[in-house]
Amino acid sequence: MKKFIIGTIVTVLLLTIAIGVQQGLLFAKPLPYDDEQKGLDTQITIHLSHVVAENTPKGQAASKFAELVEEKTNGEVKVHVYPNSSLFNDENEFQALQDGQVEMIIPTFSKMTSYIPNWQVLDLPYLFNTDDEVQEVLTGSIGEQLLKELKPFHIKGLGFWHNGFKHLTSVDHPIHTFEDLKGLRVRTMPSIALEKQFEVVGATPIPTPFSEVFTDLESNTIDAQENTASNIYSKGFYKVQKHMTLTKHGILGYTVLMNEKFWKSLPLKIQKQIMEAMKETTDWQFEQAVEINKEDLQKLEQQNNFEIYTMSNKERQRFKEKLAPVYDFYRNNVQNNDVLSEIEKIVSP
Ligand code: LMR
Repeated sequence: MKKFIIGTIVTVLLLTIAIGVQQGLLFAKPLPYDDEQKGLDTQITIHLSHVVAENTPKGQAASKFAELVEEKTNGEVKVHVYPNSSLFNDENEFQALQDGQVEMIIPTFSKMTSYIPNWQVLDLPYLFNTDDEVQEVLTGSIGEQLLKELKPFHIKGLGFWHNGFKHLTSVDHPIHTFEDLKGLRVRTMPSIALEKQFEVVGATPIPTPFSEVFTDLESNTIDAQENTASNIYSKGFYKVQKHMTLTKHGILGYTVLMNEKFWKSLPLKIQKQIMEAMKETTDWQFEQAVEINKEDLQKLEQQNNFEIYTMSNKERQRFKEKLAPVYDFYRNNVQNNDVLSEIEKIVSP
């Protein structure tokens, strides 16, 4: 009996060892060294959230920035880009940035105007004539001055990027003159200057998050909207609108923002490398944005059931004059420094 018990114990022990060895549970070798794991414990990750498609001026610039940061920091910093409102949308991204739920976002400056009313200056209609003027303002001392206004929000402003000039699309009838806007429900970004712009011509502005514009156009809860060719093409707005009018009545651009606490936690060397990547991306993206909008406008021209009309210079001039009260509103209610007059020194009248 004793022999039987000892035999059973030895058999069970041997079996356990055999199974353990076979499953690699005993005497397991360390995992082969994986290059990808180098520095994993010291790697810094930046989650970057934005609301547009990847093949747009902002989408491409975000990818380029991610690439350059990784290259310049020798892989020490990884930037994960989340496009198409897949992480946060227009309505919650700034809060998420302030709370540190995301390290970077790239909202339009229009969407920042509820925090910094003075930035409405960039939304003033017919302020800029060319992409070069926009670049000079946004990347020069005026841009720097505007970024300083982020200070009370504990946000680090890395700079400004451009998309392009906005145009109008509509569903029922084409917009040949500003009178054609009367009575339309027009989607805008949330910015009082943009809302005023449509109120002045008798339209009803409807501030809507970008991620909802397509469905609102499709369900006819809005009749028209303003945007760049690249956003109109990449988001398929041409499928739910019948007319586009090239008005160039305003610009659409971005501010590149980082959570300040996160920024301050970065070693100085990394901060410098990030700023270098930012500068390189910015120079590249201003040219790229113009190209993408040009190409996307050509693609829009090829769509069936989508008519493109160019507003005449005479009508643009009338539109500009009609919109003068938006400037009065800005001067009387918003302006708290001389940024508008600084811009007016750069742009041609
Ligand atoms: C919009 O809401 O129309 C734009 O802000 C989208 C974008 O970020 O380009």
